[in-house]
Amino acid sequence: MATTLAKAADGTEVAEHAARIEHVSKSFAGPAGQQLVLDDISIDVAPGEFVTLLGASGCGKSTLLNLVAGLDKPSAGTITTDGRPALMFQEHALFPWLTAGKNIELALRLRGVPKNDRREKAEALLELVRLKGAYGKRVHELSGGMRQRVAMARALAQESKLLLMDEPFAALDAITRDVLHDELTRIWEETGLSVLFVTHNVREAVRLAQRVILLSSRPGRIAREWTVGIPQPRRIEDAPVAELSVEITEVLRGEIRRHGQH
Ligand SMILES: Nc1ncnc2c1ncn2[C@@H]1O[C@H](COP(=O)(O)OP(=O)(O)OP(=O)(O)O)[C@@H](O)[C@H]1O
Ligand SMILES: [Mg+2]
Repeated sequence: MATTLAKAADGTEVAEHAARIEHVSKSFAGPAGQQLVLDDISIDVAPGEFVTLLGASGCGKSTLLNLVAGLDKPSAGTITTDGRPALMFQEHALFPWLTAGKNIELALRLRGVPKNDRREKAEALLELVRLKGAYGKRVHELSGGMRQRVAMARALAQESKLLLMDEPFAALDAITRDVLHDELTRIWEETGLSVLFVTHNVREAVRLAQRVILLSSRPGRIAREWTVGIPQPRRIEDAPVAELSVEITEVLRGEIRRHGQH
């Protein structure tokens, strides 16, 4: 899954793209024959860029993210990523029989971090997601927001250059989600990660991203794209966030009217 390399000013080679999706289509076999879910999608995610993928339910967002993650293969087109991406989903997918700390250490072990270094690194990652002291807590002892923080720490433990997030905060209440938006923005700025974040929540997309890509439905195609120039940290209730959200919602509504809703 190598990507193209370019020479930086100091002569070192850097990846030109964190992810490169080129003319990707995906069909699934259905009762009425092959169903085209994604049609000719091309997206480049630059190193360090934060992109949100927005679209109505069933338009193919998760399908596209799974393809980028390498969990499934495109029917046509190619996808390259700068190393193996880390994933975070709506459900935390933590192992309930392990503590928060051990869940993170498992990811560190899979990455080949020596046993003696794992504890310290896990503690540092918990601190990064502001869960200092939660190392020994089991999953059932944590709130929904805390679980998603542990899941974020576990994803970060992989030290991937690209983080793929599929509606990771959708099940949380609005206030907890707000706090996690702040945390994610801070971590993104601190780490220089590239993020491809899927959501059907327009305000969330605008709150987080440098670029919002809107997918149409049936089949999923790129309908439009916005560059978001509003400085961070943003708040979901900021006037510029609200204004752009209204504009995007109008376009999204038009897409849903044209293609029908599931
Ligand atoms: N493995 C599969 N086999 C057959 N059809 C599938 C498969 N995976 C997804 N689909 C179909 O592809 C379409 C897009 O699904 P997908 O889960 O990608 O949508 P989504 O945009 O993530 O929706 P949501 O916002 O509800 O999560 C749906 O019609 C779904 O039924
Ligand atoms: Mg989905």
